[in-house]
Parts: sequence; C-alpha cells; structure tokens
Amino acid sequence: MTSFSTVFGSQPEGSWRAPGRVNLIGEHTDYNDGLVMPIALPNQIVVTAAARTDGRFAVATSGQDGIIEFALDELSPGSVDGWAAYPAGAAWILRESGYPIGGANLLVDSDLPTGAGLSSSAALLCATSVALLGLRGIDVDPGEVARLAQKAENQYVGAPVGLMDQMASMCCTAGHALYFDIRAMSTDQIPFDPAADGLALLVVDVKAPHRHVDGEYAARRKSCEQAAAELGVPALRSVEFGKLDEALAQLPDDVVRRRVRHVVTEIRRVEEAVELMHAGRLRDVGPLFTASHVSLRDDFEITVPELDVAVDAALAAGALGARMTGGGFGGCIIALVEADAADATLAAIEKAFAENDFTPPSSLAATPSPGASRLS
Ligand code: GLA
Repeated sequence: MTSFSTVFGSQPEGSWRAPGRVNLIGEHTDYNDGLVMPIALPNQIVVTAAARTDGRFAVATSGQDGIIEFALDELSPGSVDGWAAYPAGAAWILRESGYPIGGANLLVDSDLPTGAGLSSSAALLCATSVALLGLRGIDVDPGEVARLAQKAENQYVGAPVGLMDQMASMCCTAGHALYFDIRAMSTDQIPFDPAADGLALLVVDVKAPHRHVDGEYAARRKSCEQAAAELGVPALRSVEFGKLDEALAQLPDDVVRRRVRHVVTEIRRVEEAVELMHAGRLRDVGPLFTASHVSLRDDFEITVPELDVAVDAALAAGALGARMTGGGFGGCIIALVEADAADATLAAIEKAFAENDFTPPSSLAATPSPGASRLS
C-alpha cells in the first residue's frame, strides 16, 4: 500500500472518511419519493488530501499505480471517466454550486468492496466532497452534501440514482438505522441494535458483481415514472396502499403493474417495519424482509439466482427474514437471525453456493456505524 507522501512527495493536510451502507428495507422507493431505512457499515472510503494552489487535481488510490490529473475549471459532465469520475464529479458539483474549493492532491483508500451493492460510489463521492470542503474550511450541512453527491452521480457520472446511498453515507449514526422520508425530506434515527435482542444481522456478498450504469436500473426508474404519469401523480409515493388495486386497474401493461405493486407495497413495508422497531419487536421485522425479497424477485425482477439461493438457504436454516439489499442484479443479501444461529446460517449459504457451483460468498459485519467525518 502506498502512502500519500510516496505518491505526491508532500505531507497531507488531513483525512476524511465516508461509509458504505446496507438498506434494511424500502428498496427502489427513493426515486419514487418513498421511504428507506439504511444503516452505515464499518467499511468505508478514506480520502487523504492536501490543497493545491494551481487549480489542478491529482488523484490516486493506495492500491494501484498511476495518478490521474485534471483541472478544476476544465471539468464538465463525463470529462473524466473510470473510478476518477467520482472525485472529479464531486469537484465539479461543488464548483457548479459556487463553493470556493480549489485543486487538491487526493489519495483514496478503501475497505469497502466495489460492485457489491454496498454503495462504494456514494461513499467515494461523499468522502471526496467532505475532503474538498474540509481543506478550505467550508462548513456544509451533511444533508446538503448528500444532495450534491447525488447530483454529481446523476449529472457528472450519468447514473440516475436516488438519494438513499448518499444520505446513508452522510447522515447515519452509530447504533441506528436512518429512517428517511424522501418526500418530506425528513430523517429519524431509529435505535437498531440486534445484538441487544439476541439477534444478528448478516450481510452476505453473493459475489455476482453489478453495475448501475448499465440499463436495468434506469429502466426500472423509467417504468415507475411512466406509471406515475399514467396515474396522474407526481410520483408513486402518492398511490395509497389502500387504493393500490384501483391504481393497478388503471394500468394496461402487466409489467408496469407489477413494478408499481412492488413500490407501493414496499413503502407500506417500511411503515410497518418502523412501527415494529419503535415497539421493540425486531423479530417481527423478519417476515417483512422476506416479503420485500419476494416482491423484488417476482414483481420488480431485479434479483439474480445467487441472491435467491442465498435468501432461500438463510430462510431454510431458520433465519427470521432475508432479502437482497441495494440496487439488485447482484450485490448482497441481509438476513436477520438468532445470534446463536449466525454461523450455521452462513454455513448453509456456503453449502448451497457450492451445490450450485457459484463463487463462494463472503460475509461482512453489519454494525450500524456513523456517517462521514474527518479522521485527522
Ligand atoms: C441504488 C441507488 C439508490 C437506490 C437503491 C435501490 O443503491 O443508488 O438510490 O435506488 O439502488 O433501493
């Protein structure tokens, strides 16, 4: 691993971190003005930085050779590609939004798997944003940094993602899930400590890498927006759960109907989950996870065999609930299990993967961790 001074020949001024996330429930509802409930992971991206006076950027990762350079005033959407598009996008949106940032040398370090649906893109955008603002002593509300990072991902990188991942990376707190109502733009920190109830939340990477920039995520978003337009509402959040059948009857296309049914029932499941969590009934949240997975598999159609096999194996081993988490088409599952059944559940998933000739899965600790901060 390379150090900042080896790469840039000077000392850094500070380090900033931003975590990845898993979403407990509320999948693909954020761009429908819905409800989500992510936790931040202990895995994170760290950006070590020093300001430059020439308006230029040099970015490198501690794991790879090579420095990528660009000038702040020459940035325009898509002008830098590959992984460096994320730090470039963060610099671009801060400049576009009028923040007086300058150039910088940035070294990126990460223990957050990429392509595993754990939101490494949002973490890289957020970590770079807080580093660039921090270097200039500019104080910006975490929710605003999240909105800027989302704009950078939408407009600079060209991925039409919602606001969940960036909010999780900026606004989560240790020991809590972040209940985020996108329509109201309000957040609530919900105490989430499975261990205190004798439970464990497993996060299993099914090693089937995904990418959002490919068309499926955009296609799902487009169907939802078209359905909202056909129903004459600003977003699918406006379709009340109690009036779902009426709404579905107005939609001629079966695929669109199923997409809408996922979003509307998923928003309802978040409402139910948050009530149960407030009432201290964490075990009862399990069946909502499983119902969410079934809906994502059958109605939203964004699972892959690895995700389905992992969920089925966890449930067969006695998990209280299990579901894919994140954008879909690969990534991770979460499973809520009795703490003393955690090892047996992981072993059951590994066995099912071996039987199906899948790449062996890996698991991560799901300790609810704090959002972005300065490290040094
Ligand atoms: C990705 C996107 C988020 C959200 C999830 C699905 O992680 O970045 O905005 O839409 O997929 O819930």
